[in-house]
Amino acid sequence: MKTEMKPGNMLYPLPVVLVSVHDGQGHDNLLTIGWAGTVCSDPPMVSISVRKERYSYDMIEKTKEFVVNVTTEETAFATDLCGVKSGRDMDKWKAAGLTRGKAVKVGAPVVAECPVNIECRVTQALELGTHVMFLGEVVAVQAGKEWFDENGRFMLEKTRPIAYCHGEYYGLGKKLGTYGYSVRKKK
Ligand SMILES: Cc1cc2nc3c(=O)[nH]c(=O)nc-3n(C[C@H](O)[C@H](O)[C@H](O)COP(=O)(O)O)c2cc1C
Repeated sequence: MKTEMKPGNMLYPLPVVLVSVHDGQGHDNLLTIGWAGTVCSDPPMVSISVRKERYSYDMIEKTKEFVVNVTTEETAFATDLCGVKSGRDMDKWKAAGLTRGKAVKVGAPVVAECPVNIECRVTQALELGTHVMFLGEVVAVQAGKEWFDENGRFMLEKTRPIAYCHGEYYGLGKKLGTYGYSVRKKK
């Protein structure tokens, strides 16, 4: 038996990311985004959906740049804080204890504490309703050197990434398999 729910956003779990932005005139900000996604492999593209009333919105609209910073158990508290306080009222970097790092290609800073920083340039802005979806082409990616093993494999799992699930933050559970394991021959 199923019960019908009100049509709404029920696609969970989701990544929850810290997005860093700048205005091109020396000001920057951070906000938390749940409505983010990977939308194309080649060219690599991501999307973020932002409400116009966010302080960060005008910055993205103006510079057409943003950085998606992957969050972890270590940065979960800061991630929540950046999603409930506005840069209009405070320096969220300071309040959340986060450090600006230099991006490779864009003017917005990266979050040094995040293991992966995905630098994006906006290619399209789609007015969807409550949110404007910015499609961003990934122009550079930085990853912490400490997360690579001696063979050069990126150990993302070691960073302890988090997921957002219906209003709650979670660490990831146990590994269930690897890509293609359903068809791989057992040794
Ligand atoms: C878990 C979580 C997810 C959020 N996802 C979004 C989102 O996808 N889009 C959005 O516009 N705001 C989202 N928010 C709200 C903004 O992060 C929040 O309004 C923030 O204070 C905006 O910051 P700013 O005014 O400094 O730009 C989310 C907040 C949280 C806590």
